[in-house]
Amino acid sequence: MTIKAGDKIPSVDLAIMTDDGPDTISTDDLFSGKKVAIFGVPGAFTPTCSAKHLPGFVNNADALKAKGVDTIACLSVNDAFVMGAWGKDQNVGDKVMMIADGSADFTKAAGLELDLMARGLGLRCQRFAMVVDNGVVSSIHIDEGTFEKTSAETMLGEL
Ligand code: BEZ
Repeated sequence: MTIKAGDKIPSVDLAIMTDDGPDTISTDDLFSGKKVAIFGVPGAFTPTCSAKHLPGFVNNADALKAKGVDTIACLSVNDAFVMGAWGKDQNVGDKVMMIADGSADFTKAAGLELDLMARGLGLRCQRFAMVVDNGVVSSIHIDEGTFEKTSAETMLGEL
């Protein structure tokens, strides 16, 4: 079942790239005691994600933080090396945490799977955007096919 407003974020381990290589970050570390804007994309370096989705959150990072967001995070079913390289390519700096859900543990636990087997991309996550308050989902939007409801601009308008 897909995660919804009012649900607690599942407890799983994710990964980030650091100067010393990949490191584990638990969802408890990421979400506890914070307001987190997290968006998920079907794949690093893919056209819509690179041209629109991630840049929108980088460009609106200060505005989101001004509305009380502590952390902005981008999640994809890719490994930490890929997510780190994508963040560098997109100059995210410290504006957006690049989160690797390499084995899709979060994606599966949240019911956000996207089957792209037929296109050679395997199991990915749906394009989503969530606001999470201290580990509890306060809003979630999912885009199927188009890119409308999960943009930084939409989130900003709702905060
Ligand atoms: C995209 O443009 O975001 C995309 C393209 C192919 C597969 C997944 C995502």
